Amino acid sequence: MPTFRTIIEPFKIKTVEPIRMTTEAERARVLREAGYNVFLLKAHDVLIDLLTDSGTSAMSAEQWAGIMRGDEAYAGSDSWFRFEAAVRNVVGFRHVLPTHQGRAAERILASVLCKPGDVVPNNTHFDTTRANIEFVGARAVDLVIAEGRVPSARHPFKGNMDVAALRALIAEVGRERIPFCMITVTNNSGGGQPVSMANVREVSAVCREHAIPLYIDACRFAENAYFVKLREEGYADRTPLEIARELFSYADGCTMSAKKDALVNIGGFLATNDPALAQRERDLLILTEGFPTYGGLAGRDLEAIAIGLDEVLQEDYLRYRLRSTEYLGAAIAAAGVPIVQPPGGHAIYVDAAAFLPHVPPLQLPGQALVAELYRVGGIRAVEIGTVMFGRLDPETGEESPAPMELVRLAIPRRVYTQSHIDYVVEAILHVWNARASIRGYRFVEQAEVLRHFTARFEPL
Ligand SMILES: Cc1ncc(COP(=O)(O)O)c(C=O)c1O
Repeated sequence: MPTFRTIIEPFKIKTVEPIRMTTEAERARVLREAGYNVFLLKAHDVLIDLLTDSGTSAMSAEQWAGIMRGDEAYAGSDSWFRFEAAVRNVVGFRHVLPTHQGRAAERILASVLCKPGDVVPNNTHFDTTRANIEFVGARAVDLVIAEGRVPSARHPFKGNMDVAALRALIAEVGRERIPFCMITVTNNSGGGQPVSMANVREVSAVCREHAIPLYIDACRFAENAYFVKLREEGYADRTPLEIARELFSYADGCTMSAKKDALVNIGGFLATNDPALAQRERDLLILTEGFPTYGGLAGRDLEAIAIGLDEVLQEDYLRYRLRSTEYLGAAIAAAGVPIVQPPGGHAIYVDAAAFLPHVPPLQLPGQALVAELYRVGGIRAVEIGTVMFGRLDPETGEESPAPMELVRLAIPRRVYTQSHIDYVVEAILHVWNARASIRGYRFVEQAEVLRHFTARFEPL
């Protein structure tokens, strides 16, 4: 039998959605009108939308069939029981609370567990996780390993938590001020980098030693499981489901945005093994999300999530998924474009600071690159740098930059084909070749929280 090098998309296309072609002049105009913030663009003005992999998946024929089967009973619907069984089958936690998306699970968890002055460690908090923790007066601390902060440093598990730093934090602030610890798999804000099973085991041991509950931010648990299979000794012959189950077994609960690795457009959940905590969480769930058997979701959404959780763990899918992301990263890196190495699971992160060394962090190099990718190629990416994570001191008006200036090209699941990605490569290389002429930006408007969504900019 011949062996094949080409890893094909493991699906056929049954329904298509046209892409509207635009000219560079048109894009320059709409970009200016949007205050140079690509979140404020109309989606129909975007050719290839790599803003996020969240909620942008193409659902399968099975999932659409599930949508038709959705049972919309207010309480105790068949869809709820299928959802609960599918979630438990993967995560193993006893109590499952459906939410309308990941941040709703985070908000409930942070409201129930945190008080002002508390400290919550994570490898790297995602922006909504950080915002929910800070909103209740606690401090969100990032403890990713040193390699995870250096875009060019190669490490198979750059998302790992620095266990010595975790121990030091516990010694410094005291166990009683740490209501829970989190590990985000894969580490989105740190480049979509995986966390090893050994690291989760070690963090879990430290947490158990100090009676600190460990939560997994499980958004991309299946991609993480496949990285473990490919890279960690002892897992090559295990299925992604077995690997995922082992990972969750070291934790006490999880938050999940089903918009990623449940292959749906909306949904999430919060899960825990602690019955008393689950009761308090359910009380809040009823207040803001809905009855505990639907949360913020329709019965049809619960069905689609249940099916997605099974499909996302198929090896053919995961092999294609990680390879197609790597394909984009390898093609631009080969031409010299600086990216976070090695490529992550759901996205390629371009190192904007190295791409535009003449644009200092406070002149927002990531923002400049995002604007240029849209103008030149109609590609929508997202800045993960000073716009997203920098801080404006309200008293002094002084801005402090983020530790890294990244631009994320997130790949929606099962949406684009290889020729779309080849086009993206070509557009990035055009921008790369003209990089010396790209100038920085400054804020003209910004909100106090999560400013990247609504800020407006102007070129310097
Ligand atoms: C790691 C991580 N945690 C939490 C969230 C929040 O999920 P949602 O957007 O569904 O509220 C995201 C979303 O992008 C994420 O990537």
